[in-house]
Amino acid sequence: MERFIAFEGPDGCGKSTQMDRLGQWLESRGERVVKVREPGSTELGERIRTILLDASIPMTAEGEALLFFSSRCQLLSEVIVPALERGDWVLADRFYLSTIVYQGIAGDLGEERVMELCQGILGSRRPALHLTLDLPTDVLLERLRLRAGEGDRFESREGMIERTAEAFRSASGLPGDRVERIDALGTEEDVAARILAVIESLRVTGDSGVTDGR
Ligand SMILES: Nc1ncnc2c1ncn2[C@@H]1O[C@H](COP(=O)(O)OP(=O)(O)O)[C@@H](O)[C@H]1O
Ligand SMILES: [Mg+2]
Repeated sequence: MERFIAFEGPDGCGKSTQMDRLGQWLESRGERVVKVREPGSTELGERIRTILLDASIPMTAEGEALLFFSSRCQLLSEVIVPALERGDWVLADRFYLSTIVYQGIAGDLGEERVMELCQGILGSRRPALHLTLDLPTDVLLERLRLRAGEGDRFESREGMIERTAEAFRSASGLPGDRVERIDALGTEEDVAARILAVIESLRVTGDSGVTDGR
């Protein structure tokens, strides 16, 4: 789906920062931009988010993954497809590559199973471009440490951060997906310039509207 870009990568890699910057850049060129986050951005999605964040509910990797897909389908129908049909841009703070990584490669479901779910459930309703922001693990940990402040139960998450950062490096999405790995080291401006270079080289900023919406 043209004009639909997903920002991916582990916690702390700069997704929200760069999504905001690209949104501002697009708006400065007169484009309309809709930003979404997963799970959430619809009433059902926010309820599902509450369930997913409740650690007291026993949940298998499959049950968890399908909740993400439920939220995602609602988001597509309620927000993303209508926005693309209006000619707006849609920027997503995570999309299915995160499910492939967290529940698939680094989780219990396995990459193949999550990819099957993606293809069966989403079909061709996919971003035109996935930007995976990549940072060395020590830099990620340092940024998260700064963000979390002292006293956070952060150390226990170190192993998980390392695992997911590595999983994002190997995740190439579904057949036909454009997954571009962005070096996220350097200033915000440096990273934003790399992202613009990719977007311009892939010509996703052309005049084409929604090419499919199922
Ligand atoms: N290029 C950068 N250099 C240094 N710090 C950054 C950079 N980009 C983002 N940050 C900081 O790193 C932290 C994580 O960034 P954020 O955009 O929230 O990442 P994410 O949304 O991927 O978790 C934030 O505190 C943010 O201000
Ligand atoms: Mg964020």
